Amino acid sequence: MCGIFGYIGKRSDAADIVFEGIKTLEYRGYDSWGVAALSKNNIFVQKQIGKIGDATLHTPPLSSLAIAHTRWATHGGVTKENAHPHLDCTKSVAIIHNGIIENYDTLKKQLHGTHIYTSETDSEVAAHLIEEHIKTLPFSEAVRQTFLACSGSNALVAIHQKTNEIVAVRNGSPLVVGYGDNEQFIASDAAGLLPYTKNVHFLEDNEMAILTQNSIEIIDVQTKAKKKIVPTVLTWTRAATNKAGFATYMEKELHEQPDIMLNISLETTNATSLTKAIREARGTYLIGCGSAYYACLAGTYFFSTIAKRHINATVASEFTYQEDFINDKSLVIALSQSGETMDLIDAVKRAKAKGARIASVVNVEGSTLWRLSDLPVSCNAGPEMAVASTKDLTAKLTHLIALSYSLADKKDEGIMILKNASLETRRIISNQNVIAQLATQFVKKEHIFIVGRGLSYPAAMEIAMKIKEISYIHAEGLAAGELKHGTLALVEKGTPCIVLAPHDETYGANIAAAMELKARGAIIIGISHTKHEVFDHYIEVKDCGPATIIPTIVVGQLLALKITIEKGLDPDKPRNLAKSVTVK
Ligand code: G6P
Repeated sequence: MCGIFGYIGKRSDAADIVFEGIKTLEYRGYDSWGVAALSKNNIFVQKQIGKIGDATLHTPPLSSLAIAHTRWATHGGVTKENAHPHLDCTKSVAIIHNGIIENYDTLKKQLHGTHIYTSETDSEVAAHLIEEHIKTLPFSEAVRQTFLACSGSNALVAIHQKTNEIVAVRNGSPLVVGYGDNEQFIASDAAGLLPYTKNVHFLEDNEMAILTQNSIEIIDVQTKAKKKIVPTVLTWTRAATNKAGFATYMEKELHEQPDIMLNISLETTNATSLTKAIREARGTYLIGCGSAYYACLAGTYFFSTIAKRHINATVASEFTYQEDFINDKSLVIALSQSGETMDLIDAVKRAKAKGARIASVVNVEGSTLWRLSDLPVSCNAGPEMAVASTKDLTAKLTHLIALSYSLADKKDEGIMILKNASLETRRIISNQNVIAQLATQFVKKEHIFIVGRGLSYPAAMEIAMKIKEISYIHAEGLAAGELKHGTLALVEKGTPCIVLAPHDETYGANIAAAMELKARGAIIIGISHTKHEVFDHYIEVKDCGPATIIPTIVVGQLLALKITIEKGLDPDKPRNLAKSVTVK
């Protein structure tokens, strides 16, 4: 989950380069940060707790080699000592690490207590192991031996005072190297490399990279065999990673949604091959985590109502425990923004091992999921920087709608519906007054319930997730039919309840749910194509057929965002959360 950035090359401000680099990857972790830069006589280190966004680097030395890290704490609290980089006892080795060294305790014991530890992290042991190995081995070999001794999913980047190279190795946790002109880069995410290069190589598991000013050597960490690499060329633009004048990434990404919907539905849907794969499969399974899972759930409704097909949806972390029936006729469609979510990657690997065909709808081309897939489809949403997903989810829903219409041989109808939904989304984004007024009333609330039937059920879950993760208000999304089975007991005078009542077969039942809630004193916020007397507040979302789910969710995104801003919180970096969840 942590962010990693490294530089070696012709410039002498390496510390500043990695410091700026790590700022662009802050969404991966923002408990604390640190920089290590090689100077003439020592390794300069600066570490700090808190977000890197407003921090400054104090008098870094001239340097042409540096590494930096943003931490998302797993082992050891959020302290300066636990922030990376970690040094060995001689202060000539510095490491940064992402993942969990599962056997760190055993490794520490094997070092016989001769080393002095300054942190509570699992990571620091790697610096001391390298310190031991380097007594008899060249630096890169010392790192290789260290990595082989570590169990778990890890990405390790190391530098040494007397060796002008960066050595990096991965198993599980992502790393990508960037090829420059007399300078080379390494990062945990390709987005961070965009200001410098678009020629990259995503490290495979058990690949080790040795970066010098003029080259990047990739070797197999087990066999030491050198690998010939043809760099991948990134298609994202640098501009896509800035805030484009908005105060936050979330606002910017939210505003991009109407255009993304049009691009996907009209130009870039790789629906044909995926449609064919679904037709050929005996059992199709949609899996994802977080918002991507809610897209999966929505997919089951699209496939049923539009394509008259059954498809299963499971949270990826649970799919692992249901895989006994997977075989070589199965098709697993994995949905992900990052393409690196550990639980999802695990589930995909296991299904693949059973012979299943793997398709994916993924935003980061070249990511682990992308490479594992037989049929990867790009979300085409551009880099998403805010922790809470907005535009990537919309892109996924758009893909699934287009796919369902394609399966039903009604492609043109799908395109028309998505066009309307894009127009409606644009209208909602440009008329936010009612939502802003509502947000001021919600700020002090402790609970918000969101209910809906049919496609409004996954919409309710996603809206609840957005409210929870950025505004820290407890929100629960549920199928309206489930209200009477428990949650209704929590509703009292003044409890805000958002009722989703689109113009479909669920309308009457959703209004009935609103009545039941109101009878218990709830304040009803109706999101619907038409006003109803049961609504205390009304937000209009025009009917766009099954694609109404998108502008409906966008209302929820705006509401969550406005409550968050009203509370003075940072929507881009919610506490305890990170964008890319690369540990279990
Ligand atoms: C994190 C993000 C969510 C995202 C989920 C799955 O929790 O904050 O926005 O939905 O991970 O991530 P993925 O990259 O697989 O879509």
